Amino acid sequence: MADLDEKYIMRELKKRLEPKRYKHSLNVMKMAVTLAEKNGADVYNAKFAGLLHDVAKNMSNDDLVKYCDENGIIIDDIKRRSPGTLHAEVGADIAKKEFGANDDIARAILYHTLANSEMTTLDKILYVSDLIEVGRDLEGVDEIREVALENLNEGYYLSLLYCINNVKERGKELHPQSLAALEVAKTQR
Ligand SMILES: [Fe+2]
Ligand SMILES: [Fe+2]
Repeated sequence: MADLDEKYIMRELKKRLEPKRYKHSLNVMKMAVTLAEKNGADVYNAKFAGLLHDVAKNMSNDDLVKYCDENGIIIDDIKRRSPGTLHAEVGADIAKKEFGANDDIARAILYHTLANSEMTTLDKILYVSDLIEVGRDLEGVDEIREVALENLNEGYYLSLLYCINNVKERGKELHPQSLAALEVAKTQR
């Protein structure tokens, strides 16, 4: 597979994303590279997974649902009620079809929002990087960053817990996929 075109991707992201989201994407890319280096994961895949993960983030809910329906992406009821989460499904598809991302990168993007019970090291790296990138100044994230830089599995578990609690606090519907992910993450700490 040909190498991904970093400059082209950056230009496209700049067009598609709000400046804040573009900056976040670059920060996630950097953090994903750091975590890949520390954990013996594929640095190239981590880099482009980080860069591309939110490529669909600024699409409207209607456009996300429409994209899924038109491209044969099956959406369950919970996702249909919270279409924002579909930026993961749509982003993975766009990364692959429009930018030529490989299956490992697309898979990490697919699971970066809800996680799942069979996360690869790359999947975990992207999931964690999304929360702990240096631009995030959310309460409690500094501690998770510190842990994750030392121990990816522990950092992943804490990140998952943090995001699940966040969903609960906002009174949003929890996806069983995330709860299944948490059960497995607990046993891998
Ligand atoms: Fe995202
Ligand atoms: Fe993100």
